[in-house]
Amino acid sequence: MKAEIEMAMNWIQVGKLEDIPRQGSRVVNTIKGEIALFRSVDDQLFALNNRCPHKGGPLSQGIVHGRRVTCPLHNWVIELETGNAVAPDVGCAHQHEVKLEGSMVLLGIEI
Ligand code: FES
Repeated sequence: MKAEIEMAMNWIQVGKLEDIPRQGSRVVNTIKGEIALFRSVDDQLFALNNRCPHKGGPLSQGIVHGRRVTCPLHNWVIELETGNAVAPDVGCAHQHEVKLEGSMVLLGIEI
């Protein structure tokens, strides 16, 4: 028998899509700390801890390009879909679930 572990998810409303600028971000304070919501030029949403895996730089203040963000402190490039640093750098900013319901943005917080 295969055991399935299901992560409980608490979906919280964090605003509307238009509250997040295209190729920009918005920070939400949660019980898990600051989470940066990113919006790509084609309106895809991504959510990462607002801490660069290098030395904790604020990823929300970085430059969004495609599905990546460049950290403002030392220019590490982070994949928005996974939170992984692009090689040769190594590290990961924790990724969170985010979805749209109509124009409302919902952030998934694991509980
Ligand atoms: S803290 Fe982000 S690249 Fe150094």
